[in-house]
Amino acid sequence: MKVLIVGSGGREHAIAASVAKSSRVDKIYCAPGNAGIGKIAECVPLGAMEFQKLAAFAKEKEIDFTIIGMDDPLCGGIVDVFEAAGLKVFGPRKDAAILEGSKAFSKDLMKKYGIPTAAYETFDDPAAALLYLETAKMPIVLKADGLALGKGVLICNTLEEAKAGVRQIMQDKKFGAAGNHMVVEEFMTGREVSVLTFVDGKTIRIMSSAQDHKRAKDGDQGLNTGGMGTFSPSPFYTKEVDAFCREHIYQKTVDAMAAEGREYKGVIFFGLMLTKEGPKVLEYNARFGDPEAQVVLPRMKNDIMDVMEACVDGTLDQIPLEFEDNAAVCVVLASDGYPVSYQKGFAVTGEENFEGKEGFYCFHAGTKLDESGAVVTNGGRVLGVTAKGVDLKEARANAYAAAEWVSFENKYMRHDIGRAIDEV
Ligand code: AMP
Ligand code: GLY
Repeated sequence: MKVLIVGSGGREHAIAASVAKSSRVDKIYCAPGNAGIGKIAECVPLGAMEFQKLAAFAKEKEIDFTIIGMDDPLCGGIVDVFEAAGLKVFGPRKDAAILEGSKAFSKDLMKKYGIPTAAYETFDDPAAALLYLETAKMPIVLKADGLALGKGVLICNTLEEAKAGVRQIMQDKKFGAAGNHMVVEEFMTGREVSVLTFVDGKTIRIMSSAQDHKRAKDGDQGLNTGGMGTFSPSPFYTKEVDAFCREHIYQKTVDAMAAEGREYKGVIFFGLMLTKEGPKVLEYNARFGDPEAQVVLPRMKNDIMDVMEACVDGTLDQIPLEFEDNAAVCVVLASDGYPVSYQKGFAVTGEENFEGKEGFYCFHAGTKLDESGAVVTNGGRVLGVTAKGVDLKEARANAYAAAEWVSFENKYMRHDIGRAIDEV
């Protein structure tokens, strides 16, 4: 079969690598892709938001199955456009992708269906939000309602900070139109866990857990980023936590969406916080995590096409998910200065060191080919180096060893990915 993947990051490279392993797949296209994806797929110069052009391309090339990797096209309704064109596509329709696209929607859904999450209020008027803050407990969390590349969240320690935050989000529109509505949420403490799941509208299958490191610098200092590294599984995601989430969170979310007339198919990414009162939902995403996909998918034993097709066909109940009994760690190699400002266009060398090395992966995020055909840096997050190991410690040592195999000017990484492993 022929598969099209929409997206261009490390997540899409990890998806493409899994698709390439499927015995059922003859040809992979990726739009727009990147230099690494280009080694296993044919990259197509179409943007992820060019829905009509993408659907026309899929028709022309007789694509059997399209996978949407990114949130923006999902929330914009790319799945609806593909379905209307009679194309088979993996991901939630627009009316279901709102689970990620609107924080106010997801909070209201959780409240209505009794799914554990932080207490909150929503506002569309800055004056009302400012008044509410006067009596609220600090620290407090402010969230712009819409998609803001994971950056629309402010954690405020004082009333002054919180008031300034409301003005930034709702009046100065720091996160654009995402700030027309805002959620003000109770601050929670605990460990964060990312749980990716496959959903077919009724049935939900849980993938192995992971943990991300969102801050730019060692010791969780510095600004929030898209993610600087991950490990899987999370040792804090115990059997008890899993049992609680299965009873109170996962299936309830799928059933709630169905009850709202918003049948959900695709991936639901549950961002959980393990609080003293039990696991609570921090956020939902309508797609795989990046860089969570880079540690979870290489450990999945199933043929990814079987699982994804079952999601679209509504037959996921017939597919048990299986994961390797090992661990994986991903260290992101970024351009120094990310997430604020950084230079690009530097040559990436040493990737041949990964060739033939079982259990080692060099996933590309921000790369492209220059005029001479050489791989150069083209983004803040450049590569995601993933390695497996028998356990987390071995995987971490392998990943940090492999992180030295590739070079580029201004290469930057955190040195404490997986530090939490030592606290177990
Ligand atoms: P989100 O985009 O909603 O996942 O938020 C980004 C990050 O902000 C999360 O990964 C958490 O680290 C933090 N965060 C979000 N909501 C809360 C909360 N209610 N309490 C504490 N931290 C939070
Ligand atoms: N790594 C977090 C995310 O993909 O949202």
